[in-house]
Amino acid sequence: MGGGSNMLLLNDIDRLVVHINTKGKEVLKKDKNHIWIKVAAGENWHEFVLWCLENNYGGVENLALIPGNVGTAPIQNIGAYGVEVKDVIVDVHTIEIATRKETIFSNSECKFGYRDSIFKNLQKGKYIITDVSFKLTTNNHIIHDNYGAIRSKLAEKRIKKHCIASVADAVISIRTEKLPDPKKIGNSGSFFKNPIISKSDFNKLKEKYPDIPNYSVNSNTELVKLAAGWLIDQCEFKGKRFGDAGVHKNQALVLVNYGNATGKEILDLAYKIQETVKQKFGVTLEMEVNLIS
Ligand code: EPU
Repeated sequence: MGGGSNMLLLNDIDRLVVHINTKGKEVLKKDKNHIWIKVAAGENWHEFVLWCLENNYGGVENLALIPGNVGTAPIQNIGAYGVEVKDVIVDVHTIEIATRKETIFSNSECKFGYRDSIFKNLQKGKYIITDVSFKLTTNNHIIHDNYGAIRSKLAEKRIKKHCIASVADAVISIRTEKLPDPKKIGNSGSFFKNPIISKSDFNKLKEKYPDIPNYSVNSNTELVKLAAGWLIDQCEFKGKRFGDAGVHKNQALVLVNYGNATGKEILDLAYKIQETVKQKFGVTLEMEVNLIS
């Protein structure tokens, strides 16, 4: 277990639980424009992002304020506002549980995908991630400010200079407004993945719902990604509460626990949402959160 932020416990766990809490950052090498850093799995992700900003290391600023730890970031390839952690990962250091052998996975061996990696499917539960190495920029930072919400936030703050610090600042403001803090109200971020459907299915939906948000999938013209939050919102779940299980008022993709909802009650709400979205739009929502029982 890392930060525990992307899991739903369905019952109490009556077996050994290992919480990875290792700390440390090691600079591996530098060149004119880059730095290579190895970071221990137990480091808090957002604190690592803040440390990078303090040192003027670019590449992770769009991923500010994502809950969880450095070691769990590659498992689901955390992503936000046009950047995914795979973009800056060099390799992932692990221990194979069965053999206790140290194994390093290169970026390509991690088989990163949208909220996905080898550690989430093929090799699930087989490796403990001990460290992650990153390649970050020290000069000539690449500024990812194309995401609509970032551009509007920077415009709203009248910030003309788009640098890594101002992008991080915008991301922090957007997330604070939209996403509930798991320390204050139980949640696991986006409960579902944004669904990817065929272009022909999308065209049919677009006829009926001309405003349906949609995104391209890499450069594949046959596939379209939809916004699960919009689909759930259209089914009028946003802000609804069923006992202590609810759908967040500012972001329908986030399920929240107002206090004493059991894991099972949250899961029942997730099933209800999946069923309603399927009926209304014919689209299947896949859960992003790890169910633990
Ligand atoms: N929308 C609604 N109603 C809602 C929520 C969203 O209509 O309640 C619409 C928005 O207006 C927008 C579209 O849906 O047109 C997309 O919304 P947003 O920009 O908030 O992003 P998202 O697709 O809902 C994804 C990630 C988030 C990430 C943001 C920003 C997934 C599953 N979620 O959300 O990641 O922060 O983009 O990049 O891909 C997470 O994975 O836990 C997470 C929070």
